[in-house]
Amino acid sequence: MGKFVIYGEKPLKGNVSIGGSKNAVVAILPAALLAENPCTIDNVPDVSDVHIIIDILRKLGAICEWKNDSVTIDARPVNTYVATDNNIGALRGSYYFVGALLGRFGRAEVSLPGGCNLGARPIDQHLKGFKQLGADTTADYGKVVANAPDGLMGNKIFFDVVSVGATINVMIAACTAEGLTQIENCAKEPHVVDVANFLNAMGANIKGAGTDVIKIRGVRALKGGIRYTVIPDQIEAGTFMIAAAATGGEVTVCNIIPRHLDSLTAKLKEMNVGVETEEDNIKIYSKDDSRMCATKIKTMPYPGFPTDLQPQMTTLLSLVDGESTITEGVWESRFQYVDDLNRMGASINVNNKVAMISGNRKLRGATVRCPDLRAGAALVIAALASEGRSEVYDINYIDRGYADFEKKLRNLGADITRVDDRAE
Ligand code: EPZ
Repeated sequence: MGKFVIYGEKPLKGNVSIGGSKNAVVAILPAALLAENPCTIDNVPDVSDVHIIIDILRKLGAICEWKNDSVTIDARPVNTYVATDNNIGALRGSYYFVGALLGRFGRAEVSLPGGCNLGARPIDQHLKGFKQLGADTTADYGKVVANAPDGLMGNKIFFDVVSVGATINVMIAACTAEGLTQIENCAKEPHVVDVANFLNAMGANIKGAGTDVIKIRGVRALKGGIRYTVIPDQIEAGTFMIAAAATGGEVTVCNIIPRHLDSLTAKLKEMNVGVETEEDNIKIYSKDDSRMCATKIKTMPYPGFPTDLQPQMTTLLSLVDGESTITEGVWESRFQYVDDLNRMGASINVNNKVAMISGNRKLRGATVRCPDLRAGAALVIAALASEGRSEVYDINYIDRGYADFEKKLRNLGADITRVDDRAE
């Protein structure tokens, strides 16, 4: 499992380079199953979720080579539509194997991702989409079985909720469906667009990704044989921006697409955090003339404020002047880190999906546990801003989505060490 030992109150200073988007890559790698020729994906982050996906691809028979941040996938040897290995249920993003195998073989049998610490995680919209493409689909006994003996047929699909996963999954499956598929009420996140760009580069015909309506004209097969660079991870970038503000530091977050972070930069500016945006960097600094102040945030689908930055922002709001509120608009249960933050000296009251945060708190080091990936990052930020020593346990959650997290923080001047806690 491992833990971080952190001595706080050291302002972060310097430059940090952001890696590829985890939530794009966990879809792009399975989507490479559709390719008739090997594809190379660049800017792949070295995080444990990606290791699991590559492991699943190899078990399906794909040849995968991972060198530095490039992964080459030759999916030609794959001859099974069954992905029911135990590991697959450990990963939420494994649902993308349903869309990819269905698109390639017209059949898929994939272990279902379980629930997680964010509350119930239904996949009814994914299943509805596959059914409307003509696949008989069931989800029982821990796995999804989808079968389209006559092949997938394009259709008009209207999602009842805006879902990143369902939008991407149905888009992947529809690439090789016969005729036109029109998906409405789509998610517009940058990684939806990135997956569409990857599929188009491989030979798909997708229009409208990044808007509410995506149209996919089916093609017989995707040629592949391409090299594709994944977009930067806007959540990793946002996490470092918030960490810089929380420690009163000065950090330039490099190799990013600043537009993807507009909702965060707007909030930080409102709170009197110094923000300077350049073409592919954002600098965060403390203003000499004014203290950071409270704000109101509601998380929502892109381009709204991302739920994946909500916990990190709660930490920051505990330190600024005034009373803030954060309303969680996406997940039913995403405040599980709050008790630990309060034990570090924060003053947060959660009522249903709303957190009331009394600011200007002096945080003190404590022993805490990560309940999930982003909450783990929020607790690390709290420890960095705290007086004294903290121990953050269960950092395997952080390893799912942040590559070299502690190394990057150490380069910025943090006093953070990874300790193997198996002997404890
Ligand atoms: C993706 O999850 C991300 N994960 C999540 O990031 C992120 O929090 C989420 O999108 C929202 O931005 C990956 O990309 C692997 P959704 P996803 O389908 O696709 C409801 C992280 O920390 N819903 O957009 O699973 C659902 O309950 C992770 O990196 C249905 O009702 O999320 C939720 O309330 C955590 N039926 C809302 O929609 C469905 O079929 C949004 O979920 C699907 C979703």
